[in-house]
Parts: sequence; structure tokens; C-alpha cells
Amino acid sequence: MIRLARSRRVTALVQGQQRLESLSRRFVGGPSASHAVECAAELRRKGIAASMFFLGEYVTDPSVVAVTVRQLTEVIELTAEHDLDVCASVDPTQIGLMIDEDTATRNARVLAEAVAQAAGHRPWHGHDALMVDMEDATVTDATLALHRTLSDAGLPVAVTIQAYLHRTRDDLPELIARGGWIRLVKGAFAEPATVAARHTADTDSRYRQAAALLLAPSSRDAGAYPVFATHDHRIIDEIATLAAANGWPPDAYEFEMLFGVRPDFQQELVRRGHRVRVYLPFGQAWFPYSIRRVGESPRNLRFAVSAVARRN
Ligand code: FDA
Repeated sequence: MIRLARSRRVTALVQGQQRLESLSRRFVGGPSASHAVECAAELRRKGIAASMFFLGEYVTDPSVVAVTVRQLTEVIELTAEHDLDVCASVDPTQIGLMIDEDTATRNARVLAEAVAQAAGHRPWHGHDALMVDMEDATVTDATLALHRTLSDAGLPVAVTIQAYLHRTRDDLPELIARGGWIRLVKGAFAEPATVAARHTADTDSRYRQAAALLLAPSSRDAGAYPVFATHDHRIIDEIATLAAANGWPPDAYEFEMLFGVRPDFQQELVRRGHRVRVYLPFGQAWFPYSIRRVGESPRNLRFAVSAVARRN
């Protein structure tokens, strides 16, 4: 699936196929910012918040970087107009990090200022932020530096941290001390053993350790808002138990999952009184993203096969 996702030929061929639309609809909010906002409004009716993401990664073409910044700015403004959380996720390599660090930081600042301005039009409810995604380990330092710069400037910026990285045990306490949103993920890139844990059990155990740190009373005192981004129900249950034991009210942290992945479980968490957000991608480049999701679960593969078969 990763090879398919990286193939430009397959992507060009598949993205033109109307009959694969149901596959894109499963994992993607729509081709444009306005479609994605409609989708986010529908989710909100079900008690689920959204973090908007414009599809594309590792962008080297400055004109595509400019389009990405424009699309994200538009979606930020539209979410505020619809009185949704003003929350967008961004990969530093889609807004200029492939060109240089200054370009990425400048563009991230534009976006964080757009969030601050859009959120400023209505009463602050504390769930507005530009969430910076974390990509492969070659850009971890640059990504943390970008986050630090914007956070020092008082902008509503958040960052993602990967449990599987060895360096996370040093980076996380520093981030917690800063306060604000911190999104914890297991880590999605094929890193060498010198950089990251390579076995699932090891990664899961590090995720649990990092979650415990995020849910320590001192983390709350520092003003941290933990976002546990995982579909792992065992870990989610443990986190909910630990959070309650440590006195965290359910609105002081949240769970985040990918749009279209385990939607029934997302709804169950809402029913259980948890704050739930989905990562909601939009844009034309839906195939590489969707086919990766298919590769992550046999259940999704069955869905993909039936999507192809249904319209044949
Ligand atoms: P894991 O993959 O161990 O799966 C646990 C269980 O969840 C599985 O047994 C299965 O039941 C279920 N499951 C998992 N994936 C599924 C799927 N696609 N379909 C159906 N069931 C599934 N990574 C990164 O490196 N940088 C980042 O910035 C981000 N950002 C990010 C944001 C959000 C909101 C999420 C949810 C994830 C990320 N990730 C990420 C990806 C993350 O690092 C990780 O690769 C995936 O979330 C998969 O790991 P899980 O924690 O879900 O557990």
C-alpha cells in the first residue's frame, strides 16, 4: 500500500476514477475547504470536533506551498464562520520546510495568526489551534524549533510528539513545561533502530509511559492539554482510567482519530462523555492518503475491495 501511495502513475490514474469516489469519501472530507467544513458541521452534530488538514506532504514546489497556505487559511476562516473549533493540522514539509526552515516558519506563523484572528471573532472556548504534525526524524528538530518560535510569540500553536522516538523521553518534559496542546501519537515513519523503537510492543509501552507523563498532576499544573491520537481501544481505556484517577476532568484532554477510522468507536467514546476530535483531510490528492489507511487494517482493505467491486 505504501508503494501504491508513492506511485505518481497509479495516483494520477486512480484519482480520475469516479467509481472510486466512495473510497475517498470514507477517509477524506471532500475536494475543497467548503466540503470539508460541511463534513465538520455534520460531525459536530454527532458531538465530534475536527482538525482540518489539506492533503499533500513533502512539497518542493513553491506554488504548491502557496496553494496549501491559501487552502488552510480559507478553511480556518470558514470553520470560524460556522462556529466550529478553529483547528487545523499542518505538516511542516507541506508549507515550505523542503525549501528552508524560514519559509516553513513564516507560513506557519501566517496560519497561526489566521487561527488567532478567526478565533478572536467569537468567545474563546479554548479549542482553537494550529496543530503541527510531526514527520520523519530528519525534521524533528526543525519542527520543534518552529513550534517553539510560534509558542514564544504567544500564538495558538500545538505540536505532535511521537512515542516511538528515543528522543521523546527528553523532548516531552520540555514540551509539558511549556503548557498548551500536545498531541501524542505512536509514530508512523519507518525509522532506524538508532532513532526509534521498531517493535509494536515497545512502541505501545512507550506510548503508555508518555501518556502517564502527560496525565501527571504536574502536567495539568503547567497548563498542558493532552491530545491522545490513537485508535487503540486498550490504550484509550487505560488513559481514561488514569485520567480519572489523577483528577483530570473529561474536558481537560481529548482523543483524536482519523476521519473514517473506527467511526463506531469514536461515537462510543462521545457517549461515554469523552471529548473526541477527528483529523479531517480535504483536497484533491486523496489517493495516497486513503490507500495508506487501507493498508493499516484488513477491515479497511475489505471496504476498499467492495468500493471497487460495487461500481464495476
Ligand atoms: P495501532 O496501529 O497499534 O492500532 C491499534 C488498533 O487500532 C488496531 O489493532 C486496530 O484495531 C485499530 N486501528 C488502527 N489503525 C486502524 C485503521 N486505519 N483502520 C481501522 N482500525 C485501525 N503519526 C506521525 O508520525 N506523525 C503525526 O503527526 C501523526 N498524526 C496523527 C494524527 C492523528 C489524529 C492520528 C490518529 C494519528 C496520527 N499519526 C501520526 C499516526 C500514528 O503515528 C499511527 O501511525 C497511527 O495512528 C496508527 O497507530 P494507532 O495508535 O492507531 O495504533
